[in-house]
Amino acid sequence: MLGSKGQLGKEFVRFFRANGANVVARDINRIDIADADALRKLVRSAKPNFIVNCAAYNQVEQAEINTVAARQANAIGPMNVATISAEFGAAAVHFSTDYVFSGKFFYEPYTEEDSPQPINMYGKTKLEGEKLFLKNAENGLLFRVSWLYGKGEQNFIYKLRQWAKGKSALSVSNDETSVPTSTKFVVENVAAALQSGLSGLYHLVPSGFASRFELALEVREIFGFETDILPVSMDKFPSVAKRPKFSAMSAAKFFKAIGKENPHWRAVLRDYFAK
Ligand SMILES: NC(=O)c1ccc[n+]([C@@H]2O[C@H](COP(=O)([O-])OP(=O)(O)OC[C@H]3O[C@@H](n4cnc5c(N)ncnc54)[C@H](OP(=O)(O)O)[C@@H]3O)[C@@H](O)[C@H]2O)c1
Repeated sequence: MLGSKGQLGKEFVRFFRANGANVVARDINRIDIADADALRKLVRSAKPNFIVNCAAYNQVEQAEINTVAARQANAIGPMNVATISAEFGAAAVHFSTDYVFSGKFFYEPYTEEDSPQPINMYGKTKLEGEKLFLKNAENGLLFRVSWLYGKGEQNFIYKLRQWAKGKSALSVSNDETSVPTSTKFVVENVAAALQSGLSGLYHLVPSGFASRFELALEVREIFGFETDILPVSMDKFPSVAKRPKFSAMSAAKFFKAIGKENPHWRAVLRDYFAK
């Protein structure tokens, strides 16, 4: 498990250990996935059946400035994971993002057939990573996910709850739309994909889509806070990186492949916070 201290990595470690797997968990403090020699040494000694790469440079704003670091983690790292997995006969799983897309003007979710055209450095480095991963992996599994939330503080839902504390009103963009996705949803479906022996590129998000504003209203209802949520344009929030306005994806291909119904994002959200 690479990127094991991140939001998604932590959920994988918890899930696999709870299911009795022997998990070797590493994060940047112990291994940099851009360092091929170090990664090869680790894989040689750990002898994994599969390698799940959750490591990434995820700071969208910072990626505009720290392009080299973003590329190392998001492009060179996945290439190494793919190459080294193939060398040692381990299955490889990697994650990308809806930010490989430029944003649509009409509200129809992106499918795997749509051409990516990233508009910021984060998206560009992630797209390069997708290509290098798929080229070098043998039967690699690549999932594009969006708006992840799970345990931890680096997600919109956690931040929204913090921002709302002690405020009577909060402005949230109503023209930035994608699919909120829990880490639990991702982990359980990736486990199903590994069992089914799938390979290739899949979008992995619940069904439906939401603006940040709609998501904030739902979170407000779940947690019962009083703060008013006010719809504003995303242009109100200064940003160095350009962001797509509508980048929702459809996971129809994935759910057809594993023969399951895809739950709606509202059901996934309520299930996650019902715990
Ligand atoms: N979060 C989202 O909303 C979102 C949306 C779309 C796609 N994704 C994708 O989903 C995957 C998981 O995201 P996440 O939210 O779990 O990310 P995260 O919480 O930022 O976790 C990533 C982890 O990787 C570590 N890392 C960074 N560079 C590394 C390197 N070179 N070598 C080894 N470890 C490194 C990070 O350490 P530091 O924290 O110390 O840098 C962090 O612990 C990523 O591929 C991400 O691009 C996420």
